[in-house]
Amino acid sequence: MNARALIHTARALVKGEKGLLALDESTPTCNRRFAALGIPQTEDARRAYRELIVTTPTLGEYINGAILYEETLRQMTHEGVPFTKVLSDAGVMPGIKVDMGTTELAGHPGETITEGLDGLRGRLQAYVKLGARFAKWRAVITPGANIPSHGCIHSNAHALARYAALCQEVGLVPIIEPEVLMDGDQTLQQCAAVTQDVLRTVFEQLHTQRVLLEGMLLKPNMVLPGLACTAPTTVGEVSEATVSCLLRTVPAAVPGIVFLSGGQTAELASARLNDMNARFKLQLPWALAFSFARAIQQPAMEIWKGNPGNTAAAQKALLHRLRCNHAACRGEYNADLEWLTV
Ligand code: 13P
Repeated sequence: MNARALIHTARALVKGEKGLLALDESTPTCNRRFAALGIPQTEDARRAYRELIVTTPTLGEYINGAILYEETLRQMTHEGVPFTKVLSDAGVMPGIKVDMGTTELAGHPGETITEGLDGLRGRLQAYVKLGARFAKWRAVITPGANIPSHGCIHSNAHALARYAALCQEVGLVPIIEPEVLMDGDQTLQQCAAVTQDVLRTVFEQLHTQRVLLEGMLLKPNMVLPGLACTAPTTVGEVSEATVSCLLRTVPAAVPGIVFLSGGQTAELASARLNDMNARFKLQLPWALAFSFARAIQQPAMEIWKGNPGNTAAAQKALLHRLRCNHAACRGEYNADLEWLTV
């Protein structure tokens, strides 16, 4: 393990108050989002959509890295330029989602475990040769009646730590993503309790597996009430609960925390990230940034709809969200920004 290089890359991924763009939807997930908008679910449509994203002008002013799915890591523009080169030329590091998705955890009804450790060492070596600089693994924790169980939290945290150690062995910075889902009717306080438990277990396991904390990033959920929870919640309450949970659980050695959006609206995700940075940045040991997928891409995908004639307008919508989230990393976002065009 080259600790110095890992630390350099991890810091570079959150420098300049920029974030990451997650465009690593698996083929089934990407197809599901395409189907909802009437876009053909073909490899070429996925390639064209990802080309639209990676060739968006000035991408590198707002993000330091882009997380790709394996299919995308190997794809090229219609002119034959590898996406990894397009991104690197724009100053954006290519990363790769390396987990193989979730499956039911035996003996734990309603809970899942993320798969993909078997053969991972060899796959990671191949991804490095293809130009990846960092990786991502997502674990899914479902809150509900009597869940999450200790068994589910522990098994997922253990897998995340094993993945992270393998990444660091080959020089890839691991992004550790334990996602507490926002489906369900849990309150903000219940989400806070579950997220705290999950993050504490994840860092215990990272320590056990000798993961270098300075050479990784955490990608957590914000602490939020479930989508079906009827209690009103303010932006300030979410930001306070999230920051307090992270301060209790994430060691100061970690260089950055990059949130997933998890199904929040694009505007709320920006407003909540902004509030955390505007009010707490000076007290925080780590950078707080974004690694959103839906909260950046959804408006652009809805404009594109598979029509090449809509590419420029879709890129404009993508840049708009990136600009809002870059402002949120600086604590300078406000709702008026939503009315400005890029
Ligand atoms: P969302 O921002 O859409 O939650 O996606 C983030 C992600 O990378 C999920 O693994």
